[in-house]
Amino acid sequence: MCGIIGYAGHRPAVPLAVEGLRRLEYRGYDSAGVAFVQNGELHTIRAEGKLAALEEKLATCPNTTATAAMGHTRWATHGIPAERNAHPHLSNDGTLAIIHNGIIENYQELKNDLLTLGYTVAPDAETEVLVNLTAEGRKQHASLLDAFAWALRQAHGAYAVCVMAKDEPGVLYAARLAAPLILGIGTGENFVASDIPAFLPYTRDVVFLEDGEIVRADANRWQVLRLADLSVADKRIQHIQWDMQAAQKGGFKHFMLKEIFEQPRVIADCMAGRVDEARNTVALPELDALPVPDRLHIVACGTSYHSGLWARHILESWAKVPVTVEIASEFRYRDALLGKNDMVMVISQSGETADTLAALRMARDKGVQVIGLCNVVGSSIARESSAVVYTQAGPEISVASTKAMCSQMVVLALIALSWAQRNDTLSQATRAQMLHILRALPAQLETALPMMHDTAQQLARTYAKARSFFYLGRGHCYPLALEGALKLKEISYIHAEGYASGEMKHGPIALVDPEFPTFALALDDELFPKVKSNIVEVQARRGKIIALTNPGLELSVDHSWVIPTVQGPLSAFLVLPALQLFSYEVAEYLGKDVDQPRNLAKSVTVE
Ligand code: M6R
Repeated sequence: MCGIIGYAGHRPAVPLAVEGLRRLEYRGYDSAGVAFVQNGELHTIRAEGKLAALEEKLATCPNTTATAAMGHTRWATHGIPAERNAHPHLSNDGTLAIIHNGIIENYQELKNDLLTLGYTVAPDAETEVLVNLTAEGRKQHASLLDAFAWALRQAHGAYAVCVMAKDEPGVLYAARLAAPLILGIGTGENFVASDIPAFLPYTRDVVFLEDGEIVRADANRWQVLRLADLSVADKRIQHIQWDMQAAQKGGFKHFMLKEIFEQPRVIADCMAGRVDEARNTVALPELDALPVPDRLHIVACGTSYHSGLWARHILESWAKVPVTVEIASEFRYRDALLGKNDMVMVISQSGETADTLAALRMARDKGVQVIGLCNVVGSSIARESSAVVYTQAGPEISVASTKAMCSQMVVLALIALSWAQRNDTLSQATRAQMLHILRALPAQLETALPMMHDTAQQLARTYAKARSFFYLGRGHCYPLALEGALKLKEISYIHAEGYASGEMKHGPIALVDPEFPTFALALDDELFPKVKSNIVEVQARRGKIIALTNPGLELSVDHSWVIPTVQGPLSAFLVLPALQLFSYEVAEYLGKDVDQPRNLAKSVTVE
């Protein structure tokens, strides 16, 4: 999963492409590169590492006057992160350059054909196969468009791809199959990119490309065609309302911290227009056309999967809908038994996660309705779901997901309440009470966050040297324990495991010693006595304990972190930011790259 941008217009194109890549760096940052035509020559400049390395290289090149260019930021799939594997790649004859996000599954087969024809292709360079195949196609076809389409029809796998030619300097050719690609329509300029923020400062008018579509764009014209027969596809320009300000750091040191602190607003935004305060009812018109399912299968990855695990508790207890929750990469390769009144719900911040998208398609192929919970408007999952509920969290830039999970949990709580309303499975009084708690959360969290931040900072100093951590929780806190552990490992690189507290004595407790601390979620609910016993069991093995707990609970631990009490599963809205802030502060204390942790990417568009 890489980020690509192509520009054809009237502005200096190379700096514009680099600026666009900066906003796509969340998709990968192992290497970056640009291509442009100058003085009749097709140039590529590439560098290993983050965009800054490419910028350093560009600073030593003479100023380019090109008004068309394309750029790529890479997350390594085939081939190590090295300059030789950075995009753009040139065809052997140097007439074509290509950038690519995705995987060409039959590249070995295509490469063998090219080798027979006398081409050279570096090992692991699947994208070189595509560009050389297009060059070969030009020998047999009248136009570059025909040749490009001919090459793409032979490629299996996933791609968002863009090509420029030495002899057509102001023209971009791009196509998509199972990887995001959006066309930005400006005045006297056009863009293609993996994501909208790449060109948002220049235009908000976009065309979402579908799988199997190919586009030709220059400064003044654009046309989308079907790859299969090059017939013209009928496309609609959509106007995006996003605010670029929302994608800036706003005075915070990192996007992650800013996004953690945005959560009070996110909760309020997520509920806006969906709760009738006077009648204490929930309105989710997006789901009106669908019945309440007999059984719900929630499918997602990473943090979104944890939202699903948490939601199972309220969907079952409030709406009485039986729920299974599964990791998308497992679900998609299982012959899941889906009943005719079952429904699948896919949860994805980006709406582009390859495994989640594949799970959605599998469910739809089996004739099952799919609800998509997405943050990114117009993303593949949003467009392919039977119904989509947007989480309205605004752009999430930090690779570590924070406010997206918070917004998913709000929407899931509203869905549970709305289905409970439709099935009459929850008393009006309880529904009103839950809505009251939800409505109070933004103010409550706003007040609590600064204090939580201070505590997280102090604890981080004490615990940052630990090599491993347990996160323990029970019931609705168990998914939060999993999320706490995921957050810590992904940004601080400290090994952490989330466990159901009651499961510790079945093996994991053997690991406990004074150097292996445990972060326990010990809230004021009916499971508190059980969690307390589990904490004592760890202490009996000389394990140190941080307990996230509520006022008035009796606990004797190394560090007691008291947060305000919120009743039942909705306490998650205070637990989650505490866990996020602790991970953030540990990573920050250790000097890690918080927003762009090693080996990761924001949007995982490969399986
Ligand atoms: O965009 P999605 O919600 O589908 O992404 C799923 C995971 O890749 C994502 O939540 C990942 O686990 C985050 N880096 C966690 O912070």
